[in-house]
Amino acid sequence: MEKFYVKRITKINKNILGDINGLLSQWYGKEYRIDPRWLAQVIKNSYLLGVYDGKNLVGIVTLIEMHKISGYKGSVEHLMVDEKYRGQKLGEKLMVYAINLAKKLKMKDLYLTCEPRRIAANALYKKLGFEKKESRVYYKNL
Ligand SMILES: CC(C)(COP(=O)(O)OP(=O)(O)OC[C@H]1O[C@@H](n2cnc3c(N)ncnc32)[C@H](O)[C@@H]1OP(=O)(O)O)[C@@H](O)C(=O)NCCC(=O)NCCS
Repeated sequence: MEKFYVKRITKINKNILGDINGLLSQWYGKEYRIDPRWLAQVIKNSYLLGVYDGKNLVGIVTLIEMHKISGYKGSVEHLMVDEKYRGQKLGEKLMVYAINLAKKLKMKDLYLTCEPRRIAANALYKKLGFEKKESRVYYKNL
């Protein structure tokens, strides 16, 4: 089997929870613990994809379904690769898997947002053919 492989995460166990908390702690820059019940909801309602080194989960991305008036589309969120594993094409592997899954699901378009400071991610999305759409992102904390 290939050293690194991608698959959809469909069940949570202690190891996966620990690995995801490790990734999220890197993402938020501080110790982070996701509520396992919330993670179960995410797994049920979207496609949480993981890249593995053997049994260890070393990166994730989420593909979210959007049922819009303009059609069935997808949103790609929370792409992250463990700092120790960066630069080995794992981010790209996750994204290519998510794009192929979106095509298989017959999604019309994929959307994502990315802060300008995320140099590696911006370069990766451009490399994979994502085009910049000029629009403002608004959000309201509820
Ligand atoms: C973005 C991220 C997932 C990339 O993962 P990675 O496995 O290290 O990246 P890859 O090895 O797959 O690189 C693929 C492409 O990404 C771009 N890239 C990766 N690292 C880069 C860097 N340090 N500087 C510039 N471009 C980079 C390149 O285009 C690269 O292709 P190339 O090697 O042919 O030039 C990783 O850096 C990460 O987890 N960053 C923190 C979280 C984050 O910013 N997520 C995105 C939120 S929008």
